[in-house]
Amino acid sequence: MSAVQNPQELQGVSLQSIAEAHGNPVYVYDGEKIMSQIKSLQSAFSKVPLRIKYATKALSNINVLKLVKKAGEGVDAVSVEEIKLCMEAGFTSNEIMYTPSGVHFSEIEEAVAMGVMVNLDSISLMEDFGAAFGDSVPACIRINPHIMAGGNAKISVGHSQSKFGVSIEQLQEILEVVKKYKLKIVGLHIHTGSDILDAEIFLRGGNVLFEAAMNFPDLKFLDCGGGFKVAYKAGDPATDVEEVGAKVSEAFNTFCERYGRKLELWLEPGKFLVSEAGYLVVEANVVKKTPEITFVGVNTGLNHLIRPMMYDAYHDVYNLSNPSGEVKNYHVVGYICETDTFAKDRQIAEVRKGDLLVFRNAGAYGFSMASNYNSRVRPAEVLVWEGKAHLIRRREEFAALLKDQVILDI
Ligand code: LLP
Repeated sequence: MSAVQNPQELQGVSLQSIAEAHGNPVYVYDGEKIMSQIKSLQSAFSKVPLRIKYATKALSNINVLKLVKKAGEGVDAVSVEEIKLCMEAGFTSNEIMYTPSGVHFSEIEEAVAMGVMVNLDSISLMEDFGAAFGDSVPACIRINPHIMAGGNAKISVGHSQSKFGVSIEQLQEILEVVKKYKLKIVGLHIHTGSDILDAEIFLRGGNVLFEAAMNFPDLKFLDCGGGFKVAYKAGDPATDVEEVGAKVSEAFNTFCERYGRKLELWLEPGKFLVSEAGYLVVEANVVKKTPEITFVGVNTGLNHLIRPMMYDAYHDVYNLSNPSGEVKNYHVVGYICETDTFAKDRQIAEVRKGDLLVFRNAGAYGFSMASNYNSRVRPAEVLVWEGKAHLIRRREEFAALLKDQVILDI
């Protein structure tokens, strides 16, 4: 977590002035923080040829993608639409990895036609891919390493019962399909989950890849996925990327010697690059005292930030308008007709109707998971870059809710 506990400003621009200029709720991103996270990963892995493939799904605003491009790194996309967004941001096809899960084969064909590397996620997809392209299109295979890891069951995706990847226990079958179609496998991939604290897990995952990799003579890279845990509040532990970098790089370099060739090491961080860079600024609509609880009802809900409800995720919340007010106990809740509780029993400086509150760690899987539930429009997005606040997505308007509806004459 950055040194400042409850920032009033980013790069000298006050969050209050952003909310005044662009209204609220508004997502605000600190571009410098994104760049510094990229640099710290680059430095932790400086002993290997690292390629970062930012997990677009975490925050897919084109301007954020452009920052990743500016830092000289690439992207991981999970849909053809994400591939197209990445291309809009200026990425060339060889900078994009496509890691779909269970999509129709026509999407695979579309990605191949765009010249994008496909990460094959099942034996049956490998068969279809082989039948369609044989050895003419290089590809990567997503291995499921059977490792249980991640901050929550919903985001643990590398275990034996997960839908993702081809089980490491099916390695023989994988090799048979590769042989049958002469598949040109240039990469192997794993992603075990999200919010993984323990550096050893990344090493264990790497070791599974290194062992499997000895069976594939044409490799150019190994992709260890994303999943680094970030801090969600002061004192909250985060993955020690220096430690992961040191351990995984050493094991990787030893593997490369055994393999007989230097490969690239790819990583696909989402949260690590953008989570802490994001702030959701909202307003207190109501302070409601009941016999047991004081609720703060804000002008947003699970339609804009679903992580607390979906993953029991902790998002720090502070009062921007009354920072030195007396600290009181609140439940912070949304305006949606569901139990959309953002925070329970939080100590927050006294909240008055109209105060601006800020949710931290709102950069990753915040806006990108937002919806129009309850027929609400989605918030604006602002990027603070080079000391200035730039509107990078206008607040949706009511017309967006009607635009694609076909109205019958009834
Ligand atoms: N690579 C692959 C193949 C992935 O599926 C993901 C995330 C990542 C990389 C990036 O993981 P990260 O570094 O962001 O942990 N919506 C959930 C997280 C879902 C992650 C899905 N896959 C949340 O808000 O916690």
